[in-house]
Amino acid sequence: MDRILIRGGRPLFGDIDISGSKNAALPLMAAAILTSETLRLSNLPRLADIASMRRLLETLGAEVVEVPVEDGEKGMVLEIQASGVKSIRAPYDLVRKMRASVLVLGPLLARFGQAEVSLPGGCAIGTRPVDLHLKALEAMGAQITIEAGYIRAEAPEGLTGADFAFPLVSVGATENAMMAAALAAGESRLVNVAREPEISDLAHCLVAMGAQVEGAGSDTIRIRGVGSLHGARHAVIPDRIEAGTFLMAAAITDGDLRLRGAEMAHLERPIELLRRAGTTVEETNNGLHVKRTNGPLVGTDVMTEAFPGFATDLQAQFMALMTTATGASMITETIFENRFMHVPELHRMGANITVHGASALVRGQQKLTGAEVMATDLRASVSLVLAGLAAEGETVLNRVYHLDRGYERIEAKLAACGAEIERLTA
Ligand code: EPZ
Repeated sequence: MDRILIRGGRPLFGDIDISGSKNAALPLMAAAILTSETLRLSNLPRLADIASMRRLLETLGAEVVEVPVEDGEKGMVLEIQASGVKSIRAPYDLVRKMRASVLVLGPLLARFGQAEVSLPGGCAIGTRPVDLHLKALEAMGAQITIEAGYIRAEAPEGLTGADFAFPLVSVGATENAMMAAALAAGESRLVNVAREPEISDLAHCLVAMGAQVEGAGSDTIRIRGVGSLHGARHAVIPDRIEAGTFLMAAAITDGDLRLRGAEMAHLERPIELLRRAGTTVEETNNGLHVKRTNGPLVGTDVMTEAFPGFATDLQAQFMALMTTATGASMITETIFENRFMHVPELHRMGANITVHGASALVRGQQKLTGAEVMATDLRASVSLVLAGLAAEGETVLNRVYHLDRGYERIEAKLAACGAEIERLTA
């Protein structure tokens, strides 16, 4: 199993290209099931999760081909054609590896009137039920049963548009409901929906495919269903979590980075808090520029919230940053119930953190020291990379496959900016 070795203490200087967003790309790939024509997606990141979604689409019978980049495109480009779908079943083996597989439920049901998707099961960061996905689809007329670990959804006469208010905000349930409503008969009004940039990106792609969607980015989305959707071309938005991670990498190493392609509008709250903590972040003509303001970092409190609040996917990285600040910070996680798995690993590097329920009190200090640590999930693992970049001595990160799910060429991007980091292949 691969490991990553970091020799810490080197500030990062230079330019980094931000990749396409993993969490935008996954629902966009699932949306290809909604049409028999070709959906061409560009700016896809080369990541394990994207490969998993590709495998799932192929298992269903879709044809997925990587094609050369054309003028105006970047990243990986896939053409997905779901005319020959032969199965409506997403098997346990694939779903357990990647929970986002559940995003094929809405599209399969909307286009074929039936779907069978394995229940995802437990996850390192929380129980993560899918009840809201199912409730929204039931409101559109789906009959849903759970049998032998599988969600069986049927709508033999097709789905019908519905008024549905989500009792709590869910990114994935909003995406499933939007994709289903795009082909349902009549109008749907989805209330208390997620407002993440990934939702707006999905709406743009659905509209390019012929759907009628209004209100994405606000808390109410209206969709007038159409009889069929057609092919389209769509470029995935930049990854705001990757960009936010590199903002913190610059801050923790006292470096100076330019992040090409990063979007200020996707990161307003994290940037506000980073500024409060003692960094300067400015918009440039092609991204963001980040460096420390004069002086040390200062302890700053954070609470995770749905967008436009501070993203839970940046919480672990911010905690790593705060371990090196002057003073204390209180970090409160409100989205997932078990997202402090990085804390015991940060302790091994000398951090001073006390967890009380959903809050962690971080007492900042001068130095972290390198250690052998273990990744437990994607964002926890990158927080250990950040800590390793700032620490004195060597850090070895185990279970790098978590990192490979969500950070494209991270060692190469960091090494190009002066980090001493290398992958040790077993
Ligand atoms: C998405 O997960 C992201 N994944 C996650 O990123 C991210 O952490 C999360 O949104 C929150 O921003 C993708 O986009 C592929 P939710 P998702 O449904 O859609 C509860 C990463 O590191 N809930 O918004 O699964 C749930 O348990 C990953 O890249 C229900 O109770 O998240 C959680 O507490 C990790 N019932 C809260 O809602 C449901 O039916 C928000 O979850 C659905 C969710």
